[in-house]
Amino acid sequence: MKRVKVAPSLLAADWSRVGQEALDVEKAGADLLHLDVMDGRFVPNITFGVDMVKALGRCTELPLDVHLMIVEPEKFVEGFAKAGADTITVHAEASVHLHRLLEMIREHGVKAGVSVNPGTPLGLVEPVLSMIDLLLIMTVNPGFGGQTFIAGMEQKVKAARKLLTAHHSAAELQVDGGVNADTAPCLIRGGASILVAGSFVFGHQDRAVRIRALRG
Ligand code: DX5
Ligand code: ZN
Repeated sequence: MKRVKVAPSLLAADWSRVGQEALDVEKAGADLLHLDVMDGRFVPNITFGVDMVKALGRCTELPLDVHLMIVEPEKFVEGFAKAGADTITVHAEASVHLHRLLEMIREHGVKAGVSVNPGTPLGLVEPVLSMIDLLLIMTVNPGFGGQTFIAGMEQKVKAARKLLTAHHSAAELQVDGGVNADTAPCLIRGGASILVAGSFVFGHQDRAVRIRALRG
């Protein structure tokens, strides 16, 4: 079995020194840097935008994994692509024209991800599975770090793995929300290939210890 990748979410970092925090998790063995973009509309919180992503790209060599929790994501694809995003993940719930949006992301030479909230059925993304590089299963309601993993979501991760296999998809299966050393083993067994973790990684002085703990 392939080693699971770990994507620390910068949301839980010390924002007075984000550049150093990014570098710290890079040195600690992270595989990707997960960047949560929130607009106060799709989710009840506001974080940062294109310029922050651009600045972080100057601080770390890690691939930038941009998770857009915004309405009208099509307006910002070009900006985030130019800012150096390696992957742009959009929410299926946020776009009326998901197919077109994913095409747009790929046309910019960026990997395309699609995400579903806990209450959204996987069937919503089935028609676009052949177009994506990453499927993100939210295991908390998006908007804030430090929330508790929603019980039962491990079944959805398993179902997502089955769906990708059935479609012969090589897309990454990413899980985000409440991921820690207790929830990770079951998610890995269920077929997750990337674990996003904010508070679990950044909430400890030694991030390498936490990243290793997630890999099991
Ligand atoms: C939540 C974000 C997550 C968040 C996870 O809306 O998408 O990436 O940072 O935080 P933890 O790992 O603390 O649940
Ligand atoms: Zn996220």
